[in-house]
Amino acid sequence: MIRIAALPGDGIGKEVIPAGIRVLRAAAELHGVSLSFEELPYGADHYLATGVTMPDAEFARLPAEFDAIYLGALGDPRIADGRHARDILLGLRFRLDLYINLRPIRLWLEELCPLKGKGLSDVNFVVFRENTEGLYVGIGGHYAKGTQEEIASQQMLCTRRGTERIIRAAFEYAVTHNRRRVCMADKANALQYVGALWRRTFADVAAEYPQIETRVEYIDALCMHLIRSPEAFDVIVTGNMFGDILTDLGAMLQGGLGVAVSGNIHPGRIALFEPVHGSAPDIAGQDRANPIAAILTGALMMDSCGEPAVARTIEQAVLGALQANQTTSDLGGSLGCQAVTEAVIARLVRD
Ligand code: NAD
Ligand code: IPM
Ligand code: MN
Repeated sequence: MIRIAALPGDGIGKEVIPAGIRVLRAAAELHGVSLSFEELPYGADHYLATGVTMPDAEFARLPAEFDAIYLGALGDPRIADGRHARDILLGLRFRLDLYINLRPIRLWLEELCPLKGKGLSDVNFVVFRENTEGLYVGIGGHYAKGTQEEIASQQMLCTRRGTERIIRAAFEYAVTHNRRRVCMADKANALQYVGALWRRTFADVAAEYPQIETRVEYIDALCMHLIRSPEAFDVIVTGNMFGDILTDLGAMLQGGLGVAVSGNIHPGRIALFEPVHGSAPDIAGQDRANPIAAILTGALMMDSCGEPAVARTIEQAVLGALQANQTTSDLGGSLGCQAVTEAVIARLVRD
């Protein structure tokens, strides 16, 4: 039995997570795998009603009672500073020490790539985004807030240990997944202190993997290289903020946020899986959300839970639906979230 905590969250999270659960249940049943889902109510509605983002006891219960967390998105226009989202989403990443944010970028269908002349084999790389440090640590503050003298500071904090473990995870992935090249991206020209730490650590870890080809890029230049020649990359490792930005760019290379998946992982512990996209308030509640990102995120979760056959069944069904143009409008189709989900379920077959 694989025990999953489902946290739909806000906006389209409430549409795409139920869609993903339906697909997961059907695919698991085909393979005789049993899944249990418990839905957690945390998000904007719960916060506005109770003043509680997510109780401390929940953070403790999750690793004790579940194998994985399946999360939609957090963010609501009624909570403009996003404090509940930070508390819950960043809270889960930090408090569960999920230091790897794994964001695979894979083109499923050539027509979805906006780049001229690039095919399936050209867009196929994996981003290892550091997930527990960097600009996201929340150290900083205001002085004289709201006045002309206001000062705001936000600390970028990187440790040797935190930098080394994400870089090592990227190399280990390359070795175990038969990928030849690891690229590290930073901004060492402007951020000399953390840049120096990242470069030294990368060189130290790389020396342990002589069979892997390495490359170091500034993050701005990497954005350019990824548009010009995405085929030059297998594995990219970078810091928290740079990885966030880079993976929205990566999402577009594979057809958009409607198909981009992620896992928040600390090997050997509970992991959290979520589509890369947010709560999309502009289309929420209209049956317009593309459920494919959440559905493929479910496949990634099954891989991580030791059920690759279930994952492949889901991916094949998604591929069939994409090829038949059974898609939402962001991918050029004319179906809604529900109809795409039905189409994927109808295509689930056990090989
Ligand atoms: P967003 O990803 O929600 O939306 C960006 C654009 O992409 C919008 O036009 C949206 O309609 C479209 N889009 C996103 N997902 C889609 C899908 N599945 N199908 C079709 N179209 C889709 O990013 P945003 O607008 O910058 O943020 C909205 C809210 O979500 C904010 O509060 C933000 O902080 C939050 N957010 C949360 C997460 C998360 O919880 N992991 C991630 C990103 C953003
Ligand atoms: C993501 C999101 C989050 C991030 C936000 C909502 C805090 O953009 O998961 O990519 O920056 O990590
Ligand atoms: Mn993001």
